Amino acid sequence: MAKSKKLKAALIGFGGMGHFHSTCYAKQKNLELVAICDQDPESFKKTEEEINIGASGKTDLSKIKQCYSYEELIKTVEFDVLDICLPCHLHAEYAIRAMKDSYHVICEKPMARHGKDAEKMIQTSRKTGKKLMIAQCLRFMPSYQFMKEAYDNGTYGKLLRLDMRRCGSLPGQAWYRNPAQSGGALLDLHLHDTDYINYLLGGAPASVQTFGIARDTGGIDDLMTNYEYPDGPVVNSEGSWCKGTWHCSTIGVFEKATVEIYGTNTVKVFRLDVKGCEEIKFKKSESNPYFNEIAYFAECILKNQDPVRCMPESTLTSIRIAEAEEKSARARGKKVALA
Ligand SMILES: NC(=O)c1ccc[n+]([C@@H]2O[C@H](COP(=O)([O-])OP(=O)(O)OC[C@H]3O[C@@H](n4cnc5c(N)ncnc54)[C@H](O)[C@@H]3O)[C@@H](O)[C@H]2O)c1
Repeated sequence: MAKSKKLKAALIGFGGMGHFHSTCYAKQKNLELVAICDQDPESFKKTEEEINIGASGKTDLSKIKQCYSYEELIKTVEFDVLDICLPCHLHAEYAIRAMKDSYHVICEKPMARHGKDAEKMIQTSRKTGKKLMIAQCLRFMPSYQFMKEAYDNGTYGKLLRLDMRRCGSLPGQAWYRNPAQSGGALLDLHLHDTDYINYLLGGAPASVQTFGIARDTGGIDDLMTNYEYPDGPVVNSEGSWCKGTWHCSTIGVFEKATVEIYGTNTVKVFRLDVKGCEEIKFKKSESNPYFNEIAYFAECILKNQDPVRCMPESTLTSIRIAEAEEKSARARGKKVALA
């Protein structure tokens, strides 16, 4: 580990998400960004990136070492944590290499293109003793955390129904159009909700039933899944890259209230016993999930604790659920059981 008290991070993959992550380091208490690596020199010329959730903001690159390959990065920079923002199909390869080279790894979602690769990531983390966490950002949004706490504490009684939706258009980068690399909208976009459902309800459903279509990429680009939780809530989620405008919603119908999530920092609660709705607003400064996940991971490293909020075993389960959804969609909605 590098000698200074603050951990040192290097980021690989300075595209859309890399820009979002890079802006989160300036205010981190426990780690600083010392290097960025991207094979495309053009990526360093873009001061800001814009994706469906908005603009990344700018990162001051003046004191950050720029590298053009992983090999160059590890040869020339001393650091503790590798922040992986590469395309999905490269996550497992680079996470495994980095842990073997003695770095802790925080990696963008989806954990890996295939469950078997995600398993290898976990095995490598166990063998090397290096910490691994997947940046499943909904687990680090105060609004989604509010619903998690309401569920765990029974604040509004039992959850009866959960309805989720995350729909937009196909991103422009070429690798998103190759399902062997991105996994289509199902693995790339809809996985946010699959993972939140797994997190909220404490594990995989008994089965999934997915109706979906392959249109733009050959992957499942537009879908609706019903997740079967016997004795649990009725759960469904829609995901799409075939919709013209971005829309996203998460609604939990509890016995005593309906909870609606609006973005990262707003929740509306419609209680049965109170007229109107209660609007809960979290501070903007506390609502950046990318900042929160990096801060959380750094704290886990410093305290030598497992990242219990987002264990790699749990994010592997999310990949397994997504794989079952794909199987179901390909079989025109046949129910697929999960072990
Ligand atoms: N959490 C979120 O809200 C969210 C949103 C968008 C994307 N993502 C995820 O972030 C990841 C990256 O997506 P993106 O949209 O930023 O992709 P992108 O194509 O914009 O960026 C990827 C970058 O990696 C670089 N790269 C590719 N191979 C490399 C290599 N071997 N070595 C060094 N650099 C390499 C590319 O040049 C590119 O700049 C994906 O896993 C995606 O699913 C997450």
